[in-house]
Amino acid sequence: MASSINGAPLPFAFALLIAGCAHEPDGIAVDGELLERARSTEANVWYAFSDTLLARSIGSGHAAPYLRTRYNSTAASALDSAGRVINETIFPNGALIVKDLMIDAATLERYAIMLKRNGDPAADSEGWIWGYILANGAVAISAADQGAACRSCHGQNGHIDRTLMNKYFP
Ligand code: HEC
Repeated sequence: MASSINGAPLPFAFALLIAGCAHEPDGIAVDGELLERARSTEANVWYAFSDTLLARSIGSGHAAPYLRTRYNSTAASALDSAGRVINETIFPNGALIVKDLMIDAATLERYAIMLKRNGDPAADSEGWIWGYILANGAVAISAADQGAACRSCHGQNGHIDRTLMNKYFP
């Protein structure tokens, strides 16, 4: 995946070009599942219990200028009383985390998704399935890639079971 570009959001066409040339355009069945679940209200517990848009961090690999992250009830079981991830959490199977990447308050650019499902053919060795899907439903990076574009950055010092919200939004 291209590293992030500081400053203004990528023009939409350029973002499509990056997505189109580097990765499978079609995806696999689980990509459709991830999209449907990201679009649903399943993951409805906000990080720090706030849906306020956050400016992307300097460490973000995600080009959109704003974000907000939400957890389904299984994932939210790992949040503390302030809505932050409890240190040394290993998320249970069924945990779904969706980051809405936003151009502005009204415009979703894409979803970045992590779903814990050990044993799934698309899961990595820690059980995470990684999804990257544009607002229009086009698959930017298929879960079939098993997080190849995501895992090393998400494994940096300070990660909690490969999640980074706590590190960048403490
Ligand atoms: C260069 C580093 C980097 C890469 C590459 C990257 N991310 Fe992230 N990601 C971050 C950071 C930093 C955050 C914390 C919020 C922010 O500033 O964007 C984050 C947050 C997230 C979150 C919210 C959950 C959490 O706490 O981490 C999800 C879901 C996510 N990324 C998915 C992905 C997926 C899927 C990919 C690959 C397609 C990916 N990321 C690639 C740096 C990266």
